[in-house]
Amino acid sequence: MRADTLNPDLIKPGLKTTRVGSEVVVFSSTASTNDIAWHYASKKSNDGLVVFAESQQAGRGRTGNKWFDKPGQSLLCSTLLIDEKLDAELLTLTCAVAVAEAVGKCGKHNARIKWPNDILINSKKVSGILLESKTSRGRRNYVVGIGINCHQQTKCFPPEIRPIATSIDIETASHCDRITLAKRLLINLDEWLINARREPRLVIDKWLEMNTQLHSRVTLTCDNRIYNGIVLGIDPQKGLILQLENGPVRIFSATQTSLVR
Ligand code: BTN
Repeated sequence: MRADTLNPDLIKPGLKTTRVGSEVVVFSSTASTNDIAWHYASKKSNDGLVVFAESQQAGRGRTGNKWFDKPGQSLLCSTLLIDEKLDAELLTLTCAVAVAEAVGKCGKHNARIKWPNDILINSKKVSGILLESKTSRGRRNYVVGIGINCHQQTKCFPPEIRPIATSIDIETASHCDRITLAKRLLINLDEWLINARREPRLVIDKWLEMNTQLHSRVTLTCDNRIYNGIVLGIDPQKGLILQLENGPVRIFSATQTSLVR
């Protein structure tokens, strides 16, 4: 699959022009698509390569969680970005915007973003993103792992997550087309990465528009401590800006923080 429907006007000389999906590898089953993507990281020409799988035996989520799936029910993929100059915080926001837009186009619902990169429909999680990074030979490489719940019905989810999990089919009362969703996702990722490298403000504005927590009270954990506060905004390099209750304004990095509620 090639992302050849890209708008060439978005591509400016001098900036990295990753073509997400210029190479696509598909597995029926694997441990984790993120692990497969990392195997390709030694060759610079693999920049933009995407690994899909119908099923994972050892899917990983954020903060050490497992990501479970049943074969053929989800969209599971990982995109390799080699020698990427975007820092992890902005890349996190960029991927969230790209996924939320792709999911939102599957129906009339609005997909929203819960910091840093959970994608919600009607306040329930429909997709998660796991961003991993490694530095090798002076290059910063990333793997962006994305899991989207497509065909699950409520009973498919473990009882403990039923109140907070959903799928596109549940929310649209139809059967979503995963191929169309996959194409949209890769095109969106490509376009939003280009936006992020050219004009980060575009990403931040879109992320804020889609975010559910701006001006709300949240609780999060960082370095084994719990913090409560009001979300003031987002810093593209540093993370979530929080007015702590009875305290100063503090910024929390997405890579070191978990949102409790
Ligand atoms: C989260 O905790 O919300 C992130 C979940 C990310 C899951 C995806 S599925 C495809 C890719 N491979 C993995 O092992 N994890 C990510």
